[in-house]
Amino acid sequence: MKGVILAGGKGTRLYPLTNITNKHLLPVGKEPMIFNPIKQMVNCGIEEILIVTSKEHMGEIVRVLGSGRDFGCNFTFKVQEEALGVANALLLAENFANGEPIVVILGDNIATRSIKDYVDNFRNQHSGARILLRKVTDPERYGIAALDERKIISIEEKPNQPKSDYAVIGIYMYDHYIFDYIKQIKKSDRGEFEISSANNIYIEKSQLEYDVLEGEWTDAGTFESYYYANKILMNIDNNII
Ligand code: DAU
Repeated sequence: MKGVILAGGKGTRLYPLTNITNKHLLPVGKEPMIFNPIKQMVNCGIEEILIVTSKEHMGEIVRVLGSGRDFGCNFTFKVQEEALGVANALLLAENFANGEPIVVILGDNIATRSIKDYVDNFRNQHSGARILLRKVTDPERYGIAALDERKIISIEEKPNQPKSDYAVIGIYMYDHYIFDYIKQIKKSDRGEFEISSANNIYIEKSQLEYDVLEGEWTDAGTFESYYYANKILMNIDNNII
């Protein structure tokens, strides 16, 4: 199993902080934001990690992260030329994955508890995809899952009228078909290739499983959530529990 961390995008919602550096290098608790997803992956036994970021910030990212030696992993780096969405950034991982299953984490997603149990569930699943859900109070901001008793029926990106308050968080597990599915999707109304569109293809094929994430979680892409991310990581001294 290999890991992919997506750290591109424009970070406009955190401007002017993102005028200083890439969003994922901003401090959260006592470390740069991206350390949390890296530690999550290493904690799951993932040693090969691809980092995708923009050309403006690649130099800074490499300077801070190095080869991976300090984290106990190996980094590969790839440039996303334009911020055309999460799915567009993930497509850059096709050669790196080389047919292996992958764990993908959005670089601004912060979780305090280890995701290892969920990754082990995916390892036992052998094919398809697995996502993590979490109840939120502001569902308009996320990909939202409509559920029946046991299954996800559909995922809607940033819905005006959310069908549930279960957000699809930015930690995804995929078999190698993810790249074929991303190639089938079209840009959304906001002009991005959405990861929710690719996840909906797995739903159509009855190949999408899920767990509900335990522990504290937030993305850190707005000032409010960035502040909360700092609080929860300070509480655990930036160590994953
Ligand atoms: O945090 C969870 C949410 O993340 C999910 O519920 C949504 O379904 C998913 O679309 C995503 O929504 P956001 O609007 O929060 O995504 P954002 O544009 O902030 O991008 C999240 C990360 O993905 C960002 O930290 C860097 C990376 N990214 C994003 C874009 C648009 C890239 O690497 N390249 C990109 O082009």
